[in-house]
Amino acid sequence: MRMIDLIEKKRAGKELTKTEIDFFVKGLTDGTIPDYQVSAFLMTIFYEDMSDEEITALTLAMANSGDVIDLSSINGIKVDKHSTGGVGDTTTIVLAPLVASIGVPVAKMSGRGLGHTGGTIDKLEAIPGFQVELPNDKFIQLVNESQVAVTGQSGDLAPADKTLYALRDVTATVDSIPLIASSIMSKKIASGADAIVLDVTTGDGAFMKNIDDATRLAETMVRIGELAGRRTMAVISDMSQPLGEAIGNSIEIVEAIETLQGKGPEDLTEMVYVLGSQMVVLAGHAKTLEEARGLLVEALESGKALEKFKEMIQNQGGDPDVVDHPEKMGVAKYTIELLAKSSGCVREIQAESIGVAAMLLGAGRKTKEDLIDYTVGVKLHKKVGMDVTEGEPLVTIYANRENVDDVKQMLYDNIEIGETVEEPQLVRKIVT
Ligand code: URA
Ligand code: CA
Repeated sequence: MRMIDLIEKKRAGKELTKTEIDFFVKGLTDGTIPDYQVSAFLMTIFYEDMSDEEITALTLAMANSGDVIDLSSINGIKVDKHSTGGVGDTTTIVLAPLVASIGVPVAKMSGRGLGHTGGTIDKLEAIPGFQVELPNDKFIQLVNESQVAVTGQSGDLAPADKTLYALRDVTATVDSIPLIASSIMSKKIASGADAIVLDVTTGDGAFMKNIDDATRLAETMVRIGELAGRRTMAVISDMSQPLGEAIGNSIEIVEAIETLQGKGPEDLTEMVYVLGSQMVVLAGHAKTLEEARGLLVEALESGKALEKFKEMIQNQGGDPDVVDHPEKMGVAKYTIELLAKSSGCVREIQAESIGVAAMLLGAGRKTKEDLIDYTVGVKLHKKVGMDVTEGEPLVTIYANRENVDDVKQMLYDNIEIGETVEEPQLVRKIVT
C-alpha cells in the first residue's frame, strides 16, 4: 500500500477502507509516512469529509496507537466527561467531586491549557502540593477507595493523535469535524471509561462557531462512541461568553469552592447540574434526569460534595486547607478594577479575547514551555444581558505587574455595552 494512493483516493471523494485507514495510522505512529504526505492527506479530509465508518476506523486506530487504559478493576460504570474547549470553564473541578459524592466513580483525565483556553490540570496545580501525574495503579486505587481522581493524560495515550494534532495546528486543519471528532473520541476510548458525557461548546470561544456545526460534531461523536461500545451523549452549550465569572487558575479554584458551597455563578452551577445529571443517569445511579438532579442538589446543599473535594485534594497530595483558606494558593500583587465607560446592557463578552487577556497576565501559555502564574486572571462582574452603570466595576484584574494597559484595552475592546439583549441560552441542545 502507498500513501500517495490513499491521498489520491480521498481527493477523488471516495471512501477509504478500514485497512487503508489502519495503514495510515500505523505509518503515522511509527514515522514511516512523512509529514508532507500526512499534511496533504489532512487537507483532503478537510475538503472531502469522512463517512461515519471512516471516522470510526480512524478513531479506533488512533485509540489503539498507544496505551489503552483498563479501568475494569474499578467497580461500577465509569463515566467520563469531556468539553470541546472553552474559556473560564471551571466545570470539571466542581463536577468531579460532586458526582463522586453520591457514589458514582469518576476517573477523570484532563488536559493542560494552550493559547486562550485554560486547562483543568493547570488549575488544580494552583493548589499547593496537588499531584496531577498519577501512575495508573494509584489512579485506579484512588477511584476505588474514594470514587474520584483527576489526572493528566498518560504520556503514551493516543500518540497518533498527538502527532496529527501538532500537524493540524500548523496546516489550518484543526477545525474539521471528522478530525476533531476522532481526536477527542480516540483519547476518550483509550482512557477506558464505560460511558462518556460530551460538552460540545458553541460560539465565539469555541471551535464550533455556530449551532449547526456543533450539532454535527456532537452527533458524529455520539455515533462513534456508541459504535465503539460506549454509552455516549452530548450537551451543546453556549461558549459565546466565558463560563462563570473567574478566568484564571487559583481564582477558578476559588470559584469552584464557592460553587460547591452553593454560592457560585448561576451559569456554572447550572452547567454542573446539567452535565452531572447526565453522568449519574449513564452510570445507572438514577432512572431519570430529575431524580439525578435531586441527588446532586442534595449532595451540594448538604456539604457532602465540598467534603469530597477536600478528600480529593488530600488524596492527591494537596493541602485541603485551601478550601477554607484560599489565600494559601497565593494572591496577585495588584487588584485593578476596570470601570464601565458607559451605561447600558452588556451585549457581548467575546470569550476568546477574554481568554487572551488572562493569558497576557500570565494565566496561560503562549508556547508549551511557558510557566503559568497561578494567581493572575480576570473576574467578570457583569455577564451578557446584565445592566451596567457608567463608573461601575465591570471586571477585576488580578496581576503581578503594575501596568496592565494592554489588558485593559483588550477588555474594553471586547466587552460591548449598548441596547438591551437577552441573556444567552446556556444549554442549546441535547444529543443522544
Ligand atoms: N480537542 C481535542 O482534543 N482535539 C481536537 O481536535 C479539538 C479539541
Ligand atoms: Ca469560570
